[in-house]
Amino acid sequence: MKAVAIKDVKQFEIKDIPEPIGDGKKVIINITKTGICGSDIHYWVNGEPKGLVMGHEFAGIVEDPGDRLDLIKGDRVTALPISPCGECEACRNGDVQFCPETWNHAVGLSIDNPGGLTGKIAVRSDMVIKVPDSIKDEEVAMVEPLAVGLHAAHLGRIAVGDDVLVIGAGIIGLASAEFAKKEGASYVAITETNKARGQKAVDLKVADEYYDASDPDLVQKLLTKTNGGFDVVIECVGNGAAVNSAISMVKPGGIVVLVGVATDAVPTYTVMAVMKELVVQGAIAYTYNEFKACIDLISRKQIDVLKFVDDIVPLEKVQEAYERLTSGTDAAVKILVDPKK
Ligand SMILES: NC(=O)c1ccc[n+]([C@@H]2O[C@H](COP(=O)([O-])OP(=O)(O)OC[C@H]3O[C@@H](n4cnc5c(N)ncnc54)[C@H](O)[C@@H]3O)[C@@H](O)[C@H]2O)c1
Ligand SMILES: [Zn+2]
Ligand SMILES: [Zn+2]
Repeated sequence: MKAVAIKDVKQFEIKDIPEPIGDGKKVIINITKTGICGSDIHYWVNGEPKGLVMGHEFAGIVEDPGDRLDLIKGDRVTALPISPCGECEACRNGDVQFCPETWNHAVGLSIDNPGGLTGKIAVRSDMVIKVPDSIKDEEVAMVEPLAVGLHAAHLGRIAVGDDVLVIGAGIIGLASAEFAKKEGASYVAITETNKARGQKAVDLKVADEYYDASDPDLVQKLLTKTNGGFDVVIECVGNGAAVNSAISMVKPGGIVVLVGVATDAVPTYTVMAVMKELVVQGAIAYTYNEFKACIDLISRKQIDVLKFVDDIVPLEKVQEAYERLTSGTDAAVKILVDPKK
């Protein structure tokens, strides 16, 4: 079957890979939609690992239920793409994101487990979740990034009436901003270097205001606006400029949530964090319950994720979609891939 794999720096190739064969344990899923994630972009930019078939945000139909007695062929599902051991303390507490095994064999993020940029995938049966028929495939493929935003907002311990700043208006920033409002923030600002994306966050009513991240007066403007800083800043970019602006714009005693994945070392004046007695809170992925909560929120129409979907493309257009998502000027935030298109 056809699959899109990393070939080189910013270069994909379409190649033929074997179809997964049922082993009586894993669930074989026929992919209907797969999302392109900001984390996938890091792999594409680095061109490594070669041969990786990405796609860890997916919707599909059960082809073979494996050892899941509660599933039948034809059920609509998604899955947590991770690979927790299920036995360590973190797993027993439901904090699967802390398990040392979680990323080692993640679907779409490890060479041995191809993701949704192909026709069918094999997924660990205990990670598969059946979804209600009321949710569209496009919505199902959005559950994973939405859950990242929910986790970030939870870890920001946002209180009713808080001022919250979100740095970066990719899907992770938009989802975090949406949940910041749901948690009770009375003011949510977003900063972006891409004007079209920043404006879109306001147009979609996810943020109250957008500020240009490259404005040299930005920090002063926002400190004045918030009377000394934001209660919570959620950093959803993953570079030094974003991390440092988060530390500059949070108020003394505030919380900085680091969600962005920085692939290089980030130099910072820690004295600012010391003087402000900041809580610097990392956030990785989601818990099993947060993932399920996002399915419930979508099915109960508590959150509209379709507003974030800009395009749906076939496998042949994945290369083009990545170029569009990294242009720095295009308003598109989330492009889904339909391998059957
Ligand atoms: N911690 C986790 O569990 C987790 C999960 C998913 C993604 N991520 C990471 O979160 C980050 C965001 O993911 P995404 O899918 O939204 O990515 P994305 O690339 O779509 O969005 C990042 C946005 O940041 C903007 N930006 C760049 N520099 C900026 C700056 N200095 N100030 C403000 N905005 C700036 C870009 O224009 C872009 O729109 C990535 O680093 C990704 O790897 C982390
Ligand atoms: Zn993702
Ligand atoms: Zn474990």
